[in-house]
Amino acid sequence: MGKFAVLDHPLIQHKLTLIRDKKVGTKAFRETVNEISALMAYEVSRDMPLEDVEVETPITTTTQKQLSGKKVAIVPILRAGLGMVDGMTSLIPAAKVGFIGMYRDEETLKPHEYFVKLPGDIAERQLFVVDPMLATGGSAIMAIDALKKRGCSGENIKFACLVAAPEGVKALQEAHPDVDIFTAALDDHLNENGYIVPGLGDAGDRLFGTK
Ligand code: URA
Repeated sequence: MGKFAVLDHPLIQHKLTLIRDKKVGTKAFRETVNEISALMAYEVSRDMPLEDVEVETPITTTTQKQLSGKKVAIVPILRAGLGMVDGMTSLIPAAKVGFIGMYRDEETLKPHEYFVKLPGDIAERQLFVVDPMLATGGSAIMAIDALKKRGCSGENIKFACLVAAPEGVKALQEAHPDVDIFTAALDDHLNENGYIVPGLGDAGDRLFGTK
């Protein structure tokens, strides 16, 4: 089973509390999501492998560490996942960005993929799939299905969200037990409209100022 971690760093917890407040407007919400995402990038990348490298400093030659593993791609699930991209790339600036768009069929309520645009070497990369809210898990499961269909291995996929519902964590773990899940908070439950309680409302609407 992949790792499941609630990132309880005090800065992450504090900033998440700020944006749960319904009075916070688009600008502050968007900026704070980026700040949280950067802090999450730091935690989510903690086990990236290192190798020795020789460096000539102005004083001497020394053996130090550099990243040695797979190159990174960040894969936001459209639309709300876009809000986490700038924060992640602020720490991992060389990362490529792939996009997966899902829409929910009005009748079956099941997500369908409508747009997939990925780096050509996606199967060789370490992937950070991002979506602020892990609610039912439907979109995350389908996005990871889409990546696996294109040759990506679950061991190279980490899913990061701001707020998770227990229902979504369970569904994602059952569908993709090989994927690590990171969240800033594990909330109480989903309500009858599919919103996370207490949550922070509709993350896409709050990020982009739509209704
Ligand atoms: N998507 C959101 O944006 N918010 C929720 O609470 C659930 C799903």
